[in-house]
Amino acid sequence: MSKRGLFITVEGGEGVGKSTNIAVVEDWLRGQGIGYQLTREPGGTPLAEQLRGLLLEQREESMAPMTELLLMFAARAQHIQQVIEPALATGHWVVCDRFTDATYAYQGGGRDLPRDWISSLESLVQGALRPDLTLLLDAPVEVGLSRAGQRGALDRFEQEQRGFFERVRACYLERAQEEPERFKVVDTDRPLEAIAGEIREVLAALGGQG
Ligand SMILES: Nc1ncnc2c1ncn2[C@@H]1O[C@H](COP(=O)(O)OP(=O)(O)OP(=O)(O)O)[C@@H](O)[C@H]1O
Ligand SMILES: [Mg+2]
Repeated sequence: MSKRGLFITVEGGEGVGKSTNIAVVEDWLRGQGIGYQLTREPGGTPLAEQLRGLLLEQREESMAPMTELLLMFAARAQHIQQVIEPALATGHWVVCDRFTDATYAYQGGGRDLPRDWISSLESLVQGALRPDLTLLLDAPVEVGLSRAGQRGALDRFEQEQRGFFERVRACYLERAQEEPERFKVVDTDRPLEAIAGEIREVLAALGGQG
């Protein structure tokens, strides 16, 4: 029976460099010959990607924060059952672009939903599943927004006001302080090569434990 894989999540606000730096994680895993599954939230399965579409699209009707929270966890339940757990069980590592810390940051910090609602749903939906490592990519809000702003039309989150993204960032950093063992905060307001070097060091240290 293969040893259970490690679960790595990559977190951070808009445009901080999650997609860009996940490629660094992927390269490292390939170099080590570690089997892995790359995925993202909300989404990661056909059904969960449909829920992502519902979450991101702009519409006339405003979405109640509770609806948003439950759709996030509905997508997560599907993703865990279909993709994350099976991959970890066969010994693959899972690298996920955003996970439950994003729910704390966006629906908790951003939308101001009570943290204990989120932690109740976290226990209900995830059981004992938590990331082994969370790379929190951090940069000033305006840096991320200006990077992300190079792209096309804004989704339902991207059209929020500056204060929303400041609350998201503050909540992420607070969580990282509360769980320093799991989180590694990486300053992404730097050249890509410096960031990549730090990420490779973090992964090497984790590989040593695994
Ligand atoms: N360290 C960096 N320096 C300069 N530009 C960067 C850096 N990191 C990423 N970028 C650029 O910023 C843009 C956003 O990066 P990326 O798509 O990786 O962010 P993201 O966190 O995945 O965004 P989103 O939240 O929208 O998924 C891209 O055009 C990318 O090339
Ligand atoms: Mg991205």
